[in-house]
Amino acid sequence: CGIVAYLGHREACPIILKGLRRLEYRGYDSAGVALLDGELNVYKKKGKVADLEKFILEKDTHANVGMGHTRWATHGEPNDENAHPHYSTSERIAIIHNGIIENYAALKTHLLKQGHTFQSDTDTEVFVNLIEEIQTQNACSLEEAVRLALHEVVGAYAIVVLSKDAPNQLIAARKGSPMVIGIGEGEFFIASDATPIIEYTNEVVYVNDYEVVVIRDGQLEIRTKEDVSQTPYIQKLEMELESIEKGGYEHFMLKEIFEQPRSILDSMRGRLELEAGHLNMGGIRAYEQKFVNAQRIIIVACGTSWHAGLVAEYLIEDLARIPVEVEYASEFRYRNPVITERDIVIAISQSGETADTLAAIELAKSKGATIFGVCNVVGSSIARATDAGAYTHAGPEIGVASTKAFTAQVTVLTLLAMIMGQKRGTITDTKLRELMVELDTIPSKVEKALELDHEIQAIAEIFKDATNFLYLGRGYNFPVALEGALKLKEISYIHAEGYPAAEMKHGPIALIDENMPVVVIATRDSSYEKVVSNIQEVKARKGRIIAVVSEGDKVIPAMAEFVIEVPHTSEVLMPLVSVVPLQLLSYHIAVLRGCNVDQPRNLAKSVTVE
Ligand code: G6P
Repeated sequence: CGIVAYLGHREACPIILKGLRRLEYRGYDSAGVALLDGELNVYKKKGKVADLEKFILEKDTHANVGMGHTRWATHGEPNDENAHPHYSTSERIAIIHNGIIENYAALKTHLLKQGHTFQSDTDTEVFVNLIEEIQTQNACSLEEAVRLALHEVVGAYAIVVLSKDAPNQLIAARKGSPMVIGIGEGEFFIASDATPIIEYTNEVVYVNDYEVVVIRDGQLEIRTKEDVSQTPYIQKLEMELESIEKGGYEHFMLKEIFEQPRSILDSMRGRLELEAGHLNMGGIRAYEQKFVNAQRIIIVACGTSWHAGLVAEYLIEDLARIPVEVEYASEFRYRNPVITERDIVIAISQSGETADTLAAIELAKSKGATIFGVCNVVGSSIARATDAGAYTHAGPEIGVASTKAFTAQVTVLTLLAMIMGQKRGTITDTKLRELMVELDTIPSKVEKALELDHEIQAIAEIFKDATNFLYLGRGYNFPVALEGALKLKEISYIHAEGYPAAEMKHGPIALIDENMPVVVIATRDSSYEKVVSNIQEVKARKGRIIAVVSEGDKVIPAMAEFVIEVPHTSEVLMPLVSVVPLQLLSYHIAVLRGCNVDQPRNLAKSVTVE
């Protein structure tokens, strides 16, 4: 979910609505605002922020204090009642909440006995009634009631609370869900991330877990849950407004796909110094010996980041000869894994906020492992929870389906594997030099791959009504097959499966008939001949082959119905190029099917609940 709040001299409502639109990638099942101007008014609606905007057109929205929320449903279906903000029973307090309160059922039973009533099925409504109950019982201030309530709730939250009895005041708190405060001239902003804030101010404070924020009388006050005053640490943000706008593209996803030559370059900047023949990664410096002596590397991630982790497994084992395991963070954290102090855990996350990945880190940390983060969002929770790390510097990614963040992650992980190989002496100087030279050419090769856009659009026209897709690849292109299938599923709702090409004969081959599109990533590498055989197997069952091949391939065009030729590069670096046509294919198919590309149904960009 996304939260945003404002207190200052301007009209709050337009600022909040604009902020919600910027945060909509975090969830878009419903949206709502609460505005405080003598009265405490809540307006909320199922659907997108645009639906809310229509709904409040006729309402009185004048206020200088307010908050808004865009929801990704956890408890209760997406409808008007379950939308945030939620009132307390007396309607004197309102709350917005991102996260999950795990003990809400027990709290609700207690509150029902005390006479509280509930309009929704949400855990959030329990939270606000708990605050009201505590305030009544203790006859205390709102801020004190919020602080005491934090001792009662179990789970994750970022909340903002408004009260009719505290007219010029915003109270907020967090545990496990992100929150940042923007400090302007006599005005304050609160949001889940900095995107709603940057057009007003670049001075921000990241709120830490178990902190309670009080904004009133032009002052920002932060206290811990134990009531110890904290000095806010003000940071300057370096983010350009244009980086979070569409810049002429029809969708954020398309813009982000086309930004890749640039974002890959940015992720290498200062790290690959070709002329000097150096590779640098500030983040590993202090842990160099740990990396060199690591017995094992465990990679934890979710979704697309997990696919980048799989590429890293091939890279690190290949170049640095350290055994690697790639884990779904959600599985790893709950299965009593074997972790030792000699292990390095690499956590990969675009948002740096994924709850499962964060929890996996905490677990590994408690067992003494060294944690290295690969995050895109600067200052995010995962970036702060790790011992060391490298930012991907891809710039804000807004489209829910990840594209440029993936290639930036793979770039950083490639550099990391190269550096580790160099330090461990498992890669020759000649090979290292060759890879450096080749890596340097990747942005221009991706640029060339993007020129295939029209060609791919034409293929999309042909397959837009398919109900299933199979994606096959081997070696470094196997994770690419998984990623291609995920992209298609996410945004076009076509069922798609990624498989190691050779494994196809142990199952998916049964699905192949004359209606089955099979995307095979068959670039020229060490498994090329084998993939060609796999293509024959598909062809023999009349599957419709769309092959991604290296430029100049003479063999596959004679076998495949459609061929997409990408610039050739080293096998090790191929995922950075071969994924691009798959991103474009899923994009065009989704557009042709009339899907909402940037905000696919049921998904959210940043999943801060487990
Ligand atoms: C969500 C997003 C995916 C993303 C995954 C992991 O499911 O929709 O696009 O890959 O979370 O996110 P992270 O921010 O940790 O990379």
